[in-house]
Amino acid sequence: MPIETEQKGAGAGAVATQNEKGATQSADGIGYARGRFVALDEPVIPIDERAHQFGDGIYEVIRVYGRRPHLIEAHLDRFERSAAAISLAQERTRGELAQLIDDAIERSGFSEAQVYFQLSRGIVKRDHPFPAVPSHLTMTVRPIDDAKFQGIRERGQRMILAPDIRWQWCYIKSLNLLPNILTKQKALDAGVNDAIFVRDGWVTEGTSSNVGFISGGVLHTHPADEHILHGITRQVVLSLAGQIGLRVSETRFTPESLMAADEVFTMSTVTEIAPVVEIDGQFVGQAALADDSFVRRLQRAYRQTVSVH
Ligand SMILES: Cc1ncc(COP(=O)(O)O)c(C=O)c1O
Repeated sequence: MPIETEQKGAGAGAVATQNEKGATQSADGIGYARGRFVALDEPVIPIDERAHQFGDGIYEVIRVYGRRPHLIEAHLDRFERSAAAISLAQERTRGELAQLIDDAIERSGFSEAQVYFQLSRGIVKRDHPFPAVPSHLTMTVRPIDDAKFQGIRERGQRMILAPDIRWQWCYIKSLNLLPNILTKQKALDAGVNDAIFVRDGWVTEGTSSNVGFISGGVLHTHPADEHILHGITRQVVLSLAGQIGLRVSETRFTPESLMAADEVFTMSTVTEIAPVVEIDGQFVGQAALADDSFVRRLQRAYRQTVSVH
């Protein structure tokens, strides 16, 4: 029988239950920190944690469809690449991490969910040099209400262009998201959904998505170099392009070519593929909203990959 406990703090009022496996569950989700499953608002992170103090770590976000972590191998590959890029050693093997993710999903009880996990350089007295302590893995599993994202996928997003104020190594999925957060807020304050970064006159990506456009039957997106995150959704979209009759160009492009495109869209794990219908107050890519557009076909082809793993 589940044991009910009152949660304190951020989730105050929410009822947490302990299931048969001893995992702490609630309608908001479950957490994992310092080697055990915890309630989301349980205070488990000490002050001297390098993610907390320096943002010294990396993360991943995986979408769970029907209890299965979608594209987990690609996410684990990128997690390993990000860790290697910042010389961050992992105590767990890839297999152990995959098992832990499966356990977390099962314990959460959610079938449509989002798994967030991050690895920091550990818990140790604050000092800049790399410490000789184990890395620290934390994780959350939260339910997803896909209806919100479905609305964006159907109706499209309004965006602004914004200077890409990030560092030079955007291919690392680093915990340091201050420029992304500031720019997202700038977009919200301007009354639109999000922003698209522009660096040295070239469009790079969104604050939490990759950006593509289609003109004359060619899908254009920024090359997977150091100036963008190498999105897993982007990679799937590129692999699907041929089957719906699109050619692909991974070369840099300007805001002007985006504004003049037939169809503009973003790609990301949770939102999947979503049209962009306005940039800086101008209508763009309206063709994407038609039922037989390339973006609609990509959306349907992407959903096919979800149901056939
Ligand atoms: C800056 C940035 N670019 C692109 C993406 C899309 O990556 P993925 O498709 O792997 O979710 C994300 C996802 O969070 C992101 O933060």
